[in-house]
Amino acid sequence: MGKGRKKSISRRNERGESVKVLLSGARIQRKIRELASVIRRDFPGEPLHFVGVLKGAVFFLSDLARQIPGEVSFDFIAVSSYGKETQSSGEVKLTRDLDASIEGKTVIVVEDILDTGLTLQYLLRVFEQRKPKRLRVAVLLDKEERRIAPVRADYVGFKIPNAFVVGFGLDYGERYRNLPYVGTLSLGSGKKEERAQE
Ligand code: IMP
Ligand code: MG
Repeated sequence: MGKGRKKSISRRNERGESVKVLLSGARIQRKIRELASVIRRDFPGEPLHFVGVLKGAVFFLSDLARQIPGEVSFDFIAVSSYGKETQSSGEVKLTRDLDASIEGKTVIVVEDILDTGLTLQYLLRVFEQRKPKRLRVAVLLDKEERRIAPVRADYVGFKIPNAFVVGFGLDYGERYRNLPYVGTLSLGSGKKEERAQE
């Protein structure tokens, strides 16, 4: 450890929080290129319509979309979970709908992370009713261990262990989304790590 450890863990900020690199920006970009070529190979010559879940999916969607040749369009949706402050109750509310219809389109839902699966379960039900030609799911991260709803993604960047992560779109209290890598967050002294899981 020693030197390497220093490099991969940010110093505690003024809030007493620190972030340890889990997936470097270069590793993420390599994986996104791989996923993009698999997705294009699965649907050769077909127009693809990406639906990003705000706000966490913005960087993943924008990097993925730019790696895919051929016709690509995209749209965004936003949801909020009730009871986020205490443990998630599993109820999801649509706070911003899509601009355009997805009927007859090859839709790929793009999410930052698949955790309990409750958000995607809700969204997939909503989208299925709108009669897309095909409906697929791409997630950058998958925390399989935490799954409650039986949802699986067709395209997964990385399976990760059950720790709270930030960066590359993922936030803690709206902060850290802009980190160009994914890291595990540790909170300042006095606060419990589990609070980040709420
Ligand atoms: P799910 O409904 O439990 O699958 O949760 C999905 C949403 O919870 C994601 O879109 C994230 O916004 C958030 N989330 C889950 N795990 C983490 C994490 O480790 N860091 C940051 N946000 C997370
Ligand atoms: Mg989120």
